[in-house]
Amino acid sequence: MEILKVENYDQMSEKAADIVMEHLQGLDKPVLGLATGSTPEGLYRQLIKRNRAKEISFQNVITFNLDEYIGVKPEDKQSYHYYMNQHLFQHIDMDKRNVHIPNGTTRNEEEECKLYERQLMHVGPIDIQILGIGVNGHIGFNEPGTSFQSKTHVVELAESTRLANSRYFNSLDEVPTKAITMGIDTIMNSKTILLLVSGEKKAAAVKKLIDGEITEAFPASILQQHPKVYVIADEAALREVPNRNVVHV
Ligand code: GLP
Repeated sequence: MEILKVENYDQMSEKAADIVMEHLQGLDKPVLGLATGSTPEGLYRQLIKRNRAKEISFQNVITFNLDEYIGVKPEDKQSYHYYMNQHLFQHIDMDKRNVHIPNGTTRNEEEECKLYERQLMHVGPIDIQILGIGVNGHIGFNEPGTSFQSKTHVVELAESTRLANSRYFNSLDEVPTKAITMGIDTIMNSKTILLLVSGEKKAAAVKKLIDGEITEAFPASILQQHPKVYVIADEAALREVPNRNVVHV
């Protein structure tokens, strides 16, 4: 795990865009794993800017998103389909046929999970997967207790996750109780993982991510066993991590 320390959110986003570009360049059909949440918004703004400046093209890029709520329509503002369109896809030269996001309104959730894995197997592995982290250590929507062997599956959202994400809804009651998420094993199969984290609220989670026990009770801890992980974190998020463990960029 390589821990890159930056001063603030904007630097995190710029550095992340540099690393994403490096990993996509030179590949015929790069596969990019995408995340939602407030953390990657700055990275997406950077990618849009660089796409407009013709520094990077997404014409041949294939994307797979980590997760989607169950029961939220793609056109609903709270869906991750909507988020991705708003924050990235509609602004870049992406071929929409190359976009993959789990279908949260499917009638057959189990079949949807299997289909997602098959689609990924067909073009994968993911060249670079972007991740955020939940305060309880979730990655994608893999909540504490999820098996490290899990593939794409249906999850019950933890109350702390519903509460954290209620800021996007009118009330807590409207936050879905279930989601489809890539599994931990699915994520671990990515060639490179880029985890972004910013702010004091995540400081305790970052400490556990970096040198806590590897346990299913804290899903992100498995990343310690992945051969190529970059963590880009700002000073506030790294408050509890000794400087000797980090590289300043
Ligand atoms: C959600 C997403 C995760 C994301 C996490 C943190 O629950 N499913 O993929 O990493 O929230 O979100 P934020 O970046 O807004 O803190």
